[in-house]
Amino acid sequence: MNQTGIGIVGCGNISGAYFRGLTRFDDLRVVGCTDLDEGLGRAAQERYGVPFVATAAEIAARDDVQVLVNLTPPLAHEDVIARLIATGKHVFTEKPLTASFATAAPLVAAARDAGTILASAPDTFLGAAGQTARAAVDDGLVGDVIGVTAFVTHSKAELWHPDPSFLFTRGGGPALDMGPYHLAALVNLLGPVRSVYATSRLGAPTRTVTAPGRRVETIDVTIPTHSSAVLEFGSGTLGTVMASFDVWDHELPFAELYGTRGTLSLPDPNHYDGVVRFRAHEDTAWSDLPPVITGFTDGTDADDLPLRGPGVADLAASLDGAPLRVGADFALHVLEVLDALALGTDGVRRELTTTCTRPEPSKETWNR
Ligand SMILES: NC(=O)c1ccc[n+]([C@@H]2O[C@H](COP(=O)([O-])OP(=O)(O)OC[C@H]3O[C@@H](n4cnc5c(N)ncnc54)[C@H](O)[C@@H]3O)[C@@H](O)[C@H]2O)c1
Repeated sequence: MNQTGIGIVGCGNISGAYFRGLTRFDDLRVVGCTDLDEGLGRAAQERYGVPFVATAAEIAARDDVQVLVNLTPPLAHEDVIARLIATGKHVFTEKPLTASFATAAPLVAAARDAGTILASAPDTFLGAAGQTARAAVDDGLVGDVIGVTAFVTHSKAELWHPDPSFLFTRGGGPALDMGPYHLAALVNLLGPVRSVYATSRLGAPTRTVTAPGRRVETIDVTIPTHSSAVLEFGSGTLGTVMASFDVWDHELPFAELYGTRGTLSLPDPNHYDGVVRFRAHEDTAWSDLPPVITGFTDGTDADDLPLRGPGVADLAASLDGAPLRVGADFALHVLEVLDALALGTDGVRRELTTTCTRPEPSKETWNR
């Protein structure tokens, strides 16, 4: 079997979900990892058996490496991705593509000019839940989708991340941190967004970190942490989106689609798995839709941190001619929406400058 060689850049909090998650794909092989913090790189080597390499350039120089996976913090993405593209290797990055739409757009162009593929998380919509919802929409179960709601709320990072400072400064915030999951899920279902009206504010000015092994005690917040928006999709669907790190608990759905035939309720778009629920107008109760089994179901959905890797596998498959579903154009469009949501649109309805096509749905069939 022809294996695609992978180099991991950044061995922090999320990296374990990649080191472990990528072992599920026989055609992928992680051949090296690096981190500015050599201790973290060596710890990954010890734990996952992947050799630590001093720099990303050294990993990229290997003939058996085709894809570099960027797991650095959002504010580092612009610089790191530019360097990774310059090595000539293909790049998959964690979300968001970069910390702002303005810094991401030139990278997408640079990758195109260099003839390398730039792909990005989130890839969770490739999982069973995202693909089941997609089948429901494409098969007409919901009918014409008139409206959609999405509630992007707090991951409570203060409780579990040893240093969540990056979430409360430029490049962080609920829209850019958790919003990519919800927006990628919605664009996968409904297609691109045409315009955004959004307003946002700073919530609690100080956050207290209580995570075990924490490296910081408190964080001064410097960015808006609560946003509300109205989205108009190209399809005509109107969206109501709230993104907040100030909503700790709630009884709101993750996302719902309101169609001429019924309502579709999505599970947490941060996960690959989860039950998609549907209720036709004439139904007296909700029903659980049978899942499209995508092969990415890892049986660990109850974990706080689902195993990662389907997006890297998607990029690798595209090298053999499969359609790329997590491409940079899609991620850039999602980021343009999220940027507007994060910062507000100055009291006006902002027409977006980017668009994208809906990713190809999964080949697996829906046993309904
Ligand atoms: N933590 C999560 O649960 C989670 C979940 C999904 C996605 N993500 C995304 O994953 C990315 C990383 O998040 P994290 O929580 O693992 O952050 P982290 O701060 O825990 O780890 C990032 C690592 O990158 C290293 N690094 C920074 N610049 C580097 C460079 N130039 N070269 C090599 N290494 C470099 C840092 O030393 C650090 O070890 C972010 O984009 C985040 O949005 C995180």
